[in-house]
Amino acid sequence: MQKTTKPLNKLKKSLIYLSSVVLLAGCATGQLGKNNSGEYKNGMVVSAHPEASQVGIDILKKGGNAVDAAVAVQFALAVVYPNAGNIGGGGFMVYRGANGEINALDFREKAAASANRDMYLDAAGNPIVDKSLYGHLAAGVPGSVDGMVEAHKKYGKLSWAQVLQPAIDLAQNGFKITKRQAEELNSLHRKFMEFNPNGTAFVNLESTWQENGIMVQTELANTLKLIQEKGRAGFYEGAVADSVVAEMQRGKGLITKTDLKNYHSAWRKPITGNYRGYKIITMPPTSSGGIALIQLLQSVESFPLKRWGHNADSTVQVIVEAERRVYADRATHLGDPDFYAVPQQQMLSAEYNKSRMANFNWAAATPSSAVLAGEIKGAEHEETTHFSIVDHDGNAVSITTTLNGSYGSLVAVKGAGFLLNNEMDDFSVKPGAPNMYGLVGGEANAIAPNKRMLSSMTPSIVEKDGHLFMVVGTPGGSTIITSVFQTIINVIDFDMSMQAAVAAKKFHHQWLPDEVYLEPDALDSLSVQKLRAKGYKLEVRGPIGRVDAILKNKWGNYQGGADPRGDDKAIGY
Ligand code: GLY
Repeated sequence: MQKTTKPLNKLKKSLIYLSSVVLLAGCATGQLGKNNSGEYKNGMVVSAHPEASQVGIDILKKGGNAVDAAVAVQFALAVVYPNAGNIGGGGFMVYRGANGEINALDFREKAAASANRDMYLDAAGNPIVDKSLYGHLAAGVPGSVDGMVEAHKKYGKLSWAQVLQPAIDLAQNGFKITKRQAEELNSLHRKFMEFNPNGTAFVNLESTWQENGIMVQTELANTLKLIQEKGRAGFYEGAVADSVVAEMQRGKGLITKTDLKNYHSAWRKPITGNYRGYKIITMPPTSSGGIALIQLLQSVESFPLKRWGHNADSTVQVIVEAERRVYADRATHLGDPDFYAVPQQQMLSAEYNKSRMANFNWAAATPSSAVLAGEIKGAEHEETTHFSIVDHDGNAVSITTTLNGSYGSLVAVKGAGFLLNNEMDDFSVKPGAPNMYGLVGGEANAIAPNKRMLSSMTPSIVEKDGHLFMVVGTPGGSTIITSVFQTIINVIDFDMSMQAAVAAKKFHHQWLPDEVYLEPDALDSLSVQKLRAKGYKLEVRGPIGRVDAILKNKWGNYQGGADPRGDDKAIGY
């Protein structure tokens, strides 16, 4: 996790706070900035890369629906946003049809059949640093291609060939990389060469990457053509599967042809909950995000956040105390529902979540050591990516997809041109040992053959009075849940526009470590002072979340919220 330990300078904080208030007011009154082009009637796509958003809008304009556009955007992101967009990773989709139908698709990666719970421990039983993070052994069996095939089969309108073509064109003809991408790729040059000694499309062997340099990915284009031609068999069987297995043999990884052939995504029943009259539709386990999001909303619902104000000390205190309790539950009770009986019903009960807040003390921070999971009867990169889409008919798709770390395991499959994930690190490698996000876990999320690792990804859709209201999600590892939560309350409690809610400064707490992370200037100096006096350990760190969201306003227009923390882009028509 990126963070600095510099103490907050009071005067500087107050001055910057004033300017951030002016900035927020500007956003709220319609100054949308470079990432966002306004309000639209017909449809909207918001994603982490302008080229991918354009692909989605073009598909909608050709008569495709939100799922066609989503499939096209997922494949386009695998080309133009390779640090998190992927075909070698996995993700989740939450869907709401214009007719009110809701659904959720779990295309999360799985552990290989030969995985075992101690595979990242040394002889003394301690986690081996980086073994679950880099290289071939860090990869789970990819789910994204099967997920897209399933989503398209169930809801798609355009042909499979049509939705694949834009990504193939981008890979074959190349695309212009952004300044941010050029810098990231240059900084990873040595690491890429370590895991891919023959080079990859992501390594510039002649010079350094520059903004607007063209990245061509011929091998990836060929892989995408096979997927276009053969559907899931183009990836999970044949030449691509052979390349993955050869790659595993080269780097002592575990994924076999049988693992690939046996991979299937799962349709699941979305989680729903209510908050101040709005209905939240979100992702069930294997994500922890949906349950935790509803728990957070239920925990704060009885408090007058609006009266206290956005990021005021009382607002922050209540939210941090709710987060402490919810993340303690996450560590104990959540894992792959196909392997572990997640006590979902009780965790989602409003009485339960209210009772969890009963021992919270206004006078002093509750130490995390005093908080256990509830009794239930019976600096690192945070590179995931999210996109939100609404089509002309009002169908909505919310997809969060990931390789886990930036560029995943850093292993590009030779001959096939795509990066493998390092999602195995999202398992609890050893009960109580923190993963790359500092998250701890236990039995529920222990490694087992063919099991899915727990995720924080929280693609969500909000309804008001039975109608679509918001489509929202973000990358950010463990901060995903708290960023989605804050974006929702920024709109519902603090009356922000979609763009202002996305841009607003965020903070994060996750039980362990017992610290509260703040984006620079997230709180005014007086609030910082008051919270510190009560024992809250506040740490300023880098950006939190990168939310891409859509709001349907009261005039029926779609407002995009494209996160200014990245190159994200909202395009409507
Ligand atoms: N890899 C981040 C997550 O799934 O939560």
